[in-house]
Order: sequence, then C-alpha cells, then structure tokens
Amino acid sequence: MIQIPDYNVPYALSPEQIKSFHEDGFLMLPDVLKPDQVKDMQAWSAEVKGWPNRLGQHMHYEEVRADGTTGLCRTENYVNYHKGFNDLFRGERLTGLLSELMGQRAVLFKEKINYKEAGGSGGFDAHIDASAYNHAGANKHQTFLMAVNDMDMSNGCLEVVPGSHKLTIPLAPNRCIDPTWEAKQTWVPVPMPAGAMLLFGSYLAHRSGANSSPKPRAAIYATYNGISEGDNHDSYYVHRRKLWPPTSERVPGEKYSEGAMIYAYGSPMSGGKESIAETLSSGNKKQTITSTVTDLFHLLEAQGQEGYIGEAISQLEHSLQAAEAARQSGADDATVTASLLHDIGQFLPHANAKEMMHNGESVGRKSHEVVGEVYLRKLGFPEKVCQLVGAHVVAKRYLTATEPGYLEALSSASKASLKYQGGPFSSQQVEEFLQDPLHKEKIALRQWDDQAKRTDIKAPGLQTFRPIVERALDG
Ligand SMILES: [Fe+2]
Ligand SMILES: [Fe+2]
Repeated sequence: MIQIPDYNVPYALSPEQIKSFHEDGFLMLPDVLKPDQVKDMQAWSAEVKGWPNRLGQHMHYEEVRADGTTGLCRTENYVNYHKGFNDLFRGERLTGLLSELMGQRAVLFKEKINYKEAGGSGGFDAHIDASAYNHAGANKHQTFLMAVNDMDMSNGCLEVVPGSHKLTIPLAPNRCIDPTWEAKQTWVPVPMPAGAMLLFGSYLAHRSGANSSPKPRAAIYATYNGISEGDNHDSYYVHRRKLWPPTSERVPGEKYSEGAMIYAYGSPMSGGKESIAETLSSGNKKQTITSTVTDLFHLLEAQGQEGYIGEAISQLEHSLQAAEAARQSGADDATVTASLLHDIGQFLPHANAKEMMHNGESVGRKSHEVVGEVYLRKLGFPEKVCQLVGAHVVAKRYLTATEPGYLEALSSASKASLKYQGGPFSSQQVEEFLQDPLHKEKIALRQWDDQAKRTDIKAPGLQTFRPIVERALDG
C-alpha cells in the first residue's frame, strides 16, 4: 500500500511555545515534518530548482557571484505549479500553525526558495520584511523558514535580534537596517537541522551570511497573511513580475529601479543593490517618494496597534479616522496628509506615550506635535503639512478659549493632557493665532482629531491614503 503523507494533521503548539513566540518574535519547531516528509520536501526543492524558465509561471532569479559568474539564487511563485508544495503549504498542518500564531485564518501570501551555493554565494543584509510586503494590501504577516539542508553559521544560517519585532527599527535610505543600529545589537544565530521550521513575523530584524562551506544549501521561506486582508498571493506576483521580473523575463538595459526598491533590498539578486544605489545617488524623486511613504506607513503600522491614549481605539485607527474626515470634507492633499500624520511624533522610537502623559515634565512627549513637525520636515514634506502637524495642540488651546462648551466636551484624557499643553489661550494669544494664514486648516484639523475616536465606524485602510501622501510629499 502506498503511504500518502498527510499534510492536514494539525500540529498543536503548547502555551509556552506561543508565549515564547510572542516574546522573542520567533519560534523554532524541529518536528513539524516527519522524516519521510522531509525527504519529499528536499526532493521537491531540487525539482523546482531544476525547472527550466517558463514565461509567466515560477520566477527564477540569478545573482552575480564573487568570481563574476552568474547563477540561480532564488525561485519564487512555484506553489501554484507544484502539487506537493501546494498540499504542504496550503494544508491544514502548516496553515493551522500559522493561523494559531496570527489569531485568524492564515492564507499563503508568497513563497520562495533561496539557494546559497558552496564557496561564498548568497548573504542578506540586515533587514525587516515588512516594507517589502505592505504595498500589496496585507500588513500582518507571519513567515516560516524551512531548512532544506542543515543550516549553521558556516553556510549562512539566519541570524536574528530576539525581541526586535517590538521595536521601531531605524532604516537606512537603501531600506536595510541602519548600520549604526545593527552594530549595537546582539545577533543570535539560529542553526537548524534539515526539515526544521522557524516561525517569525515581518518586523523581526534578521540577516544571514554567505555560504562559505564546501556544500550548497537551500532554504524555503513562505509568508502568510490573515484572511481578513484577503488572498493576495496571485496579485502580489502580478505586481512583482511587472516591477521586478525573473532574470529570464528582463528587458536588457532596463534597471527596474522601482521594483528593486521594493523587492530586492538587502538581497543578492543581480541588479538589485546596484539599482538601489543608483536611484539613491541620482536622487530619483519618484523612487524616493515611494520609499519614504512606504517607510512612514511601516512606522504607523508597527506602532499604531497600540491603544490611543485613554481611548478605546488604536492609534492607527485614530489617525485614519482623522484623515478620512479631512478627505470627506474636500480638504487638499497637504491637509489630509497632515490629518493622517498629526500624531506621528507619538510613533517615533525615542518616545513612550504613556510615560509622557503621566509626567508633564518629561521632554519630547509633551511636545509630540513639535517632534512630528520636525520629523516631517526632515523627510521633505512641504511647510503646510509640517506646520499643520505642529499646530494641532495650539488649535486645541485656541478652541478651549473661544468655543463655548469645547473644554467640557473634551474626553477626560484630552482634558488631562491640556494641562500639560499650556491650557486655554489668553485673549492676546487668540488674536495672534487668527493672524496665522493657516488658522482655518489648523482649527479644522483639530476638530477632525477630536472626532476621530469613534468605535462605531472603521476608516478605510492606510493604503487608501498613499496617493494623497505621495502627492503631498511631491509638493
Ligand atoms: Fe527577510
Ligand atoms: Fe490626535
């Protein structure tokens, strides 16, 4: 009788495993696959690697090696063309595992096999995955790494910073992790036996070295998103193929600079690093705008899950509701952008909102609107956006002085923070404020801010505002 491996037998995680996953940001499971399943997986990986190029199907990517030769370094988008991998990755055993960690049904988003040949091939700069995925509609991802061969430091196993998924990690202009931050961390190598799985999310800092061993090795990565974000697998690959096509589908001379910025940062795929470096040095405005907005949205998404201080909704939902109110009222791009980003000062790494609100003396948080204004100016936003963001507390002080009932109607959290913000304006301050050419927008933004605390509505997703923010940044 032929034994059919069952990829639908659930794998139960213990409460300790779930806890350690959330604490460290990763979890190693050596025993998800049975020994015969490990053998199948290894055979399939070799099969996929050997596939000839087929236009419009799986995507083989090449690298340029240290000796100047080129060779395969990765295959993407193979599950739809391989029954074994499809049954394994979309079966209940793996999907159920990912669903449990995600708190909702997991859907396969993308899959790849990275090959590191013997003698110095491969190597990934320190990065987080989130900025490569978020444009595609889904924003909460979990990935598994499955070792095709034994992996250790000699052949470039994964290295991670435990707990880094909870931090806001500074990124360099080339989208990789800021080298100063990278140098300060304790990087932990994660050696894995063949067939073992490592689960991690898209905000965990990771990197890997080249394969300096005498044997080739391969590693599978599959990324899932929650069903609430939809099934984005095929649309992700349509977008990827268009912007960052497999090596065999490239037009000679074309640089694919937009695709490189999204899909190739940190990786050895040929053309990627060169194209990113060129984009950055030539000051290609469109690319710079796209990646600035991607990184900004990443910051909002990473930090925005925190509750809005003293309110029942998340900080991100609060920002989205404020932006949507501005958009509905027909405000211009700069004003909608300022509404979306008015609390950006709260999201920046150095600040801790809760501490600040309980301590009027501490620096920074008290003036989070000023922090935000300075930050947005540094990113190149026009003055109108920066000034509107810098003024949302000033407008509150104006309204408490001039609008009957305004002070009373404030939430208790907002009333409490007013004290640390200088209290209502004096009549002279009111006069001065009315001289400001932006005073109308400043007041409007403040009112949208006040109303953006509703639990009975849900604002449209962050990506809805991408074109608006890009136009505003374009000035
Ligand atoms: Fe990665
Ligand atoms: Fe706010």
